[in-house]
Amino acid sequence: MAAQITPSTLSADFARLADEARAVAGADWLHVDVMDNHFVPNLTLGVPVVESLARATDTPLDCHLMIEDPDRWAPQYVEAGASSVTFHVEAAAAPVRLAREIRAKGARASMALKPATPIEPFEDLLPELDMLLIMTVEPGFGGQAFLDIMLPKIRRTRELISKHGLQLWLQVDGGVSASTIERCAEAGADVFVAGSAVYGADDPAEAVRALRARAQT
Ligand code: DX5
Ligand code: ZN
Repeated sequence: MAAQITPSTLSADFARLADEARAVAGADWLHVDVMDNHFVPNLTLGVPVVESLARATDTPLDCHLMIEDPDRWAPQYVEAGASSVTFHVEAAAAPVRLAREIRAKGARASMALKPATPIEPFEDLLPELDMLLIMTVEPGFGGQAFLDIMLPKIRRTRELISKHGLQLWLQVDGGVSASTIERCAEAGADVFVAGSAVYGADDPAEAVRALRARAQT
C-alpha cells in the first residue's frame, strides 16, 4: 500500500482548526488526538469538537483516543463523523467487542499499543482490526523524540500481519519526521502520524508531500 500521511492536530492552532485542516488538504487523513487527563496527563478535546471539525473538512478524521473507558466513548466518535477510531488496548475492557462495534457503526477500527505494551498477546485480535497503531513515544504530548527501540516491534508486527495474510494498516505515531520516517517505513509501517514535523514547518502542505516522498523511497 502507498504510504499515507496523517498530520496531528495536536500541533495545530486549536482556535483555527478548520483552517489548519485546509492547510494540509493533500493529506490522506487528519489525526485528532483526544486526551482526557486520566489515561494520559494532558487534556485536548472531545466529541463536540470532532463533530464540528468533521463538518468543516473533507479530509477523513483519524481519531486517536487516549482516554479511559473507550468501550463507552469510542462509538460516539464514529457518530460524530470520524472515519477511523483508535482506542488503546491498555484502556479497553473488551477490545474485540469494541472493534466490532466501531466497524458496525461504519468506521475503521484501530487499536493502539503504548511503547511498553507488546504485540504478541494480541495476535489473535488482528483480524478484528483495520489498523494497528504502534506508539513511538509515550502518549500525551507532541514534539517528543522518536523511540528507536520501537523499530523491532514494528517489524515483528508487520511479520504477524503478513503471516495471517491480513490487509491491516500499520500506523506509527510520535517523533515521526523527515529523519525518522524512512526507518519506520523500512520496518513495515504504512500510515504515518506527524504533528510537529507538519505544523511546525513553514509550509505544512509541502511537509506532507516531503514526508510521503521519503516514506516511499
Ligand atoms: C502524542 C500524540 C501524537 C502527537 C505526535 O501522544 O498521540 O499524535 O501529536 O506529535 P509529534 O509528531 O510531534 O511527535
Ligand atoms: Zn496520536
